[in-house]
This record gives sequence, structure tokens and C-alpha cells, in this order.
Amino acid sequence: MQKKIIIASLLLISAFSAHADNKLDALKDETRAAAMPFMKALMEENKKAVQDGGPESAVKVCKDIAPKMASELSRQKGWKVTRVSTKVRNPMIGTTDEWEQKALKKMEARLAKGEKPETLEVAEIIKGKNGQTFRYMKGIVLQPGCVSCHGKPEEISDAVKASLAAEYPHDQATGYTPGQLRGGLSISRPL
Ligand code: HEC
Repeated sequence: MQKKIIIASLLLISAFSAHADNKLDALKDETRAAAMPFMKALMEENKKAVQDGGPESAVKVCKDIAPKMASELSRQKGWKVTRVSTKVRNPMIGTTDEWEQKALKKMEARLAKGEKPETLEVAEIIKGKNGQTFRYMKGIVLQPGCVSCHGKPEEISDAVKASLAAEYPHDQATGYTPGQLRGGLSISRPL
């Protein structure tokens, strides 16, 4: 009799955790589907802008287009979408919270172990005082085209340096090499 109860409870527990896994997977798939076009557009727009008009015109992509895309996605979906980093250029919108800091650390470690940039993501359902929140982060890895604004001092032109100094007096987002984790696209969804 007792054995039956134990088996029944085990089945119930595994059914519950399977349900939780399915829920997390479904949220992950849905959020990723919205995040990927953002990432693709960001990388492509940036490449195009650097090729067409040099880094000064690419400033537009990172400064105007990316935050605009993030806030459009936020509005459309009712999610909170931002680009964050531990070495931030725009502290107003790019500063990490505790979860984001941990997620970036995890992805940095995974990248160091040889994981491909395309698969770098972290997802979790967090239980808080006001209910559950789904947290998602897609890693943003530095491309060769990014060094003209995020690379070493000798890779950044005087014109870009001057405009960065004027607009971002607290800029920490330089000194990166391609392949390094620059930050993440962070999405937070109340459930
Ligand atoms: C021409 C200059 C320029 C280039 C090239 C550039 N960025 Fe940026 N990046 C900026 C500026 C300016 C900001 C601050 C934007 C803002 O005010 O929100 C920024 C911010 C960011 C942020 C948000 C976090 C933070 O530090 O504020 C990420 C992530 C980022 N860039 C990644 C990249 C990646 C990846 C590339 C290459 C695909 C790239 N950037 C290329 C100028 C540039």
C-alpha cells in the first residue's frame, strides 16, 4: 500500500516537473523568436553602416536604432527589453541587475569553454513577491566590425573618441576584442 503511494507521488512529482520544463521551454522558444530578428538586424545594420559610412554612421545603429528596436519590442509585447553589459557605455539603460550579472558571468564561462556565440542564452522563471517573472538573456558577442567603437584605443578613430567622450563621459565599453562577450539582450516578462 505504502509502496503504491510512493510510486503515485513520484509520478505526480515527475509530471509536475515535466510540466514546468515544458512551460520554460515554451517561454524560451517564444522569447527567442522575438529576440533573434533583433540580434540579426543589429549585426547586419552595423556591418552595413560601417561599410557605407564608416564608424561615425554606425554610431547611429548602436545609439539610435538598437535602443529604438528594444523599446518597440517592449511596447509591442509588454515585455522589458534592454541591452545590458558589465562594462557599460550608457549606464542609464545598460546597467545590470543581479540576475543579469549572473547570467552574463555564466555566458562568459560558457564562451571560454568553447560554446558558439549563437547558442549563448540563459532563461529562468523567477518567483518573486509579486508573482512569477520569466527572465531571458541572449549573449551579444563582439564582431570585428564593433572594434571601431568598442575595441582598443588604437582601433578607435579620434573622431569617434571625441564623440564618445562628449556623449558618454563614463564610458567603460572599450578594450574589447572580437569573440568576447560584449553584453546581452535582456528580456523580462511578467507571467
Ligand atoms: C560606431 C560606434 C559603434 C559601433 C561600431 C558599435 N557600437 Fe555598440 N555602442 C555604441 C554606443 C554609442 C552605445 C551606447 C548606446 C546607448 O546610448 O544606448 C553602444 C552600446 C552598446 C551596447 C549596450 C550596452 C552598453 O554598453 O551601453 C551593446 C551590447 C553594444 N553596443 C554592442 C555592440 C556590438 C556587438 C557591436 C558590433 C556588432 C557594436 N556595439 C558596434 C557605439 C557603437
